[in-house]
Amino acid sequence: MYSDELYKNIFEANKKWADAKNAEDPDFFAHLAKAQNPDFLYIGCSDSRVHANEIMGLQPGEVFVHRNIANLVVNSDLNALSVINFGVEYLNVKYIIVCGHYNCGGINAAMQPRDLGILNPWLRNVRDVYRLHEKELDAITDLQARHNRLVELNVYEQSLNVIKTAEVQKSYLKTGYPRVAGWVYDLENGMLIDLKIDFEKELDRIRKIYNLTDK
Ligand code: CO
Repeated sequence: MYSDELYKNIFEANKKWADAKNAEDPDFFAHLAKAQNPDFLYIGCSDSRVHANEIMGLQPGEVFVHRNIANLVVNSDLNALSVINFGVEYLNVKYIIVCGHYNCGGINAAMQPRDLGILNPWLRNVRDVYRLHEKELDAITDLQARHNRLVELNVYEQSLNVIKTAEVQKSYLKTGYPRVAGWVYDLENGMLIDLKIDFEKELDRIRKIYNLTDK
């Protein structure tokens, strides 16, 4: 139910936050208002429990963020592709991170073979990841373990989708960045896990089929 109190509290909390930031550093807002210069582009899940800045220990201005259900990078999604384009070509980010998380509602939903309405086309992308890794996933009998592995494999495949974009390939060959990384966040202990995707190797492998650099 809509709560007046809950809504008003936000503005009070906002004022307290702005005052505290000002007290800490009187140039904080003036400095940030001029420009942003983040080194990281974070692509994560919309889940309210996974907040990019907070889990990375970063301040406003330090990470460019895109979030959607199940942290997907879909090649017809103008939103995600625009964020990647802007991040690479205008912000010159050094890293693009795809971050999934265990206990992801989107991944769980995709694991159930049934009609989910408007979510069908979106979650189809996760079901495609399952199909690509069907043998490995079907061999895991524990359902939680299978879910966790699908979370990891989805991050891996979405990281490859980032590497498939022309701007990432072109920029990396020209400047040495951005590098692409895949992470999983564990809600149960607050820890980030680096899936240690071998970026150079994957870039080479991807470019065999998806080379967009004219080289
Ligand atoms: Co999620």
